[in-house]
Amino acid sequence: MIFAKKNHLIGLDIGSATIKLGELVQTKKDRILQKFGMAELPRDAVVEGLIKEPAVVADTIKELVKDLKVKERNVAISVAGYSVIIKKITVAKATDEDLQDSIQYEAEQYIPFDVEDVNIDFHVIGEHEENPDQMNVMLVAAKKEIIDEYVDLLEMANLHPRVIDIDVFAMERVFEENYLNEEGNIALIDIGANKMNINIVKDYMSAFTRDVSIGGEQIIREIASRFDCSFEEAEDIKLSKTKDKVPEEEVREIIYSFTSNWCDEIKRAIDFYYSTYADEDIRRIILSGGATQTAGFSELLSAETSIDVQMCNPFTSININEKQNDVDYLQKIAPQAAICMGLASRRVDDK
Ligand SMILES: Nc1ncnc2c1ncn2[C@@H]1O[C@H](COP(=O)(O)OP(=O)(O)OP(=O)(O)O)[C@@H](O)[C@H]1O
Ligand SMILES: [Mg+2]
Repeated sequence: MIFAKKNHLIGLDIGSATIKLGELVQTKKDRILQKFGMAELPRDAVVEGLIKEPAVVADTIKELVKDLKVKERNVAISVAGYSVIIKKITVAKATDEDLQDSIQYEAEQYIPFDVEDVNIDFHVIGEHEENPDQMNVMLVAAKKEIIDEYVDLLEMANLHPRVIDIDVFAMERVFEENYLNEEGNIALIDIGANKMNINIVKDYMSAFTRDVSIGGEQIIREIASRFDCSFEEAEDIKLSKTKDKVPEEEVREIIYSFTSNWCDEIKRAIDFYYSTYADEDIRRIILSGGATQTAGFSELLSAETSIDVQMCNPFTSININEKQNDVDYLQKIAPQAAICMGLASRRVDDK
């Protein structure tokens, strides 16, 4: 039943607050979600995409793999942030092989790191709009140092990294697979505990990406400091699980001040996009990541941008194995699972 078993892998999204694991099986007819799970990480074990406490993170991954009874050892992970550069560049028309040889030289002009220190990848987008002798290429460079860090981490967790993706491309994959007939300009935005990834796609092709250091933990830190409580208590206060202990109005104000700052960041990115693509119109914003479920945020974003805002559901085009999964739970946390599901649908030998 399982199609190309040797190609199979699991998606592992290593966030700064939670690790998500997803396993998809591709049959001839459809895609089935076999396993999905999340595990919380202690604060500061992963900071700005860097693994600060490898042993703790590796143990959390091992526990999750064990709890879900996952047998597969091949994984797809993703990286993001300051160690990753994504840039649309224009080069003379060339075959993939020729570009493979010259990309290092091309990249030197665009990346702020020594090319010796980065792994470089590229994807040909197509012919240049005005000059048929040239083509547009998406250049991706990730610091070797950070890749090595993740590879070492996975080894500690007894897993084999087969695909190392980039957060924004995993988001794009989820969008392509679950949102049909969504041509035009769509902004995909993931906000986790500590970072926001923005990817504006034009006709299913990435046209603009940006990572910003903001997220749900900002709110938790502020609540903890304002009310002098632990982070755990602050998280419960944020989620309105503990009422009466603190003035609700003050909590609402804190949440509002951060979420409106997130909206400002998003508006800045959209304005920048419009300054490059003056005639374009962003039709929709699709939100993923745990922090986008913060009370009132999606409504605020829609009001501030005058753009239709929708929560991402990465399970739309997937059949869920109901024996192994709690469907209600999955629907509840669906936006938080997006990047992981984008990774889970990768295969060992795809590019
Ligand atoms: N229902 C909810 N309402 C408000 N906030 C939520 C909700 N669910 C999760 N969060 C917040 O979302 C964050 C975790 O989301 P997510 O798992 O996407 O982050 P992460 O991937 O670990 O972090 P990052 O990608 O930024 O490193 C936490 O800050 C948590 O408080
Ligand atoms: Mg995340």
